[in-house]
Amino acid sequence: MMKPSISIIGCGRVGTALAVFLTRAGFPLAGVASRSLASAQNTARLAGAGQVFDTPMDAAKNGEIIFITTPDAAIEGVFADLVAPKGTLAGRVVFHCSGALSSGILTKGAAAGVATGSIHPLQSFAPYEAGQASPFTGINISVEGDDLAVAEGTRMVEALGGVSFTIPTRAKTLYHAAAVVASNYLVTLERFAVDLLQEAELSEARAYEILEPLILGTLSNIKNRGTVDALTGPVARGDKEIVARHMADIEKVRPEYSELYRLLGQYTLKVAREGGSLAPESADSLETLFKPPGS
Ligand SMILES: NC(=O)c1ccc[n+]([C@@H]2O[C@H](COP(=O)([O-])OP(=O)(O)OC[C@H]3O[C@@H](n4cnc5c(N)ncnc54)[C@H](OP(=O)(O)O)[C@@H]3O)[C@@H](O)[C@H]2O)c1
Repeated sequence: MMKPSISIIGCGRVGTALAVFLTRAGFPLAGVASRSLASAQNTARLAGAGQVFDTPMDAAKNGEIIFITTPDAAIEGVFADLVAPKGTLAGRVVFHCSGALSSGILTKGAAAGVATGSIHPLQSFAPYEAGQASPFTGINISVEGDDLAVAEGTRMVEALGGVSFTIPTRAKTLYHAAAVVASNYLVTLERFAVDLLQEAELSEARAYEILEPLILGTLSNIKNRGTVDALTGPVARGDKEIVARHMADIEKVRPEYSELYRLLGQYTLKVAREGGSLAPESADSLETLFKPPGS
């Protein structure tokens, strides 16, 4: 089956990687455009294909599938310009690659006869370097949008060697929030732990070294048993005395973490209750301990 031709608007990290690896996967690169001509020329050179255009509209008209890979804040404006002349891009499919935004920001597409979607690789992209391995191989990549966009997007992701999954458009922001919690907030939690160990006179590097097997073991338990059964420690055991001592000492030396510890305790208690092995009276006394001060 003939692969559809591609246009890339926004020749930065993601746009260039798509240009290079979609070309390699057999999708003809029809057009590239960026804010600066130099970036578009560089991307076409790296991909070894693609006509360079001065304007996004000229690049878009040349392709069947159009990627707007500008920074998130510019996507809606670029798209509005593309669909302003009604019918010019009818029959095309337009994607953006934002994680936080859904295809909902491209609603003007329907009136212009354009199918719209988003394709988001759960991967961090560095600037493309000639000869580098594909940043899409084995990466989980979400696809959402119109039926046609989801079908085309899924085919492209698979051709790139990525692992596609579909999410409902309405859940895109929550999907992104989940990625932030799993990755960024994990960093914050580890910072909390490292700060407590610095109180025990361990350097940050040494503190992490000591914690690492515990962190990796926990991740492995989550993978093998699920979140509820992976929970161990004083909350899972219903040990109120230990938790009260933690809270008292944190309040003494790092009071800026007291509220975070209390809230995490509250949510950890919910997980422990789901496990079903916590005695009701232990759970109740922990619940009292984790209540906001003064409530
Ligand atoms: N980087 C990541 O790790 C990552 C991961 C997943 C998804 N994403 C998503 O991928 C998209 C692109 O991110 P990126 O990291 O590739 O950004 P980037 O490296 O900053 O590149 C963005 C490119 O867009 C061009 N541009 C800016 N405004 C434009 C406009 N009005 N019209 C045309 N081109 C314009 C810039 O142009 P010039 O170079 O020509 O000045 C730049 O080359 C974003 O939606 C982002 O959320 C990024």
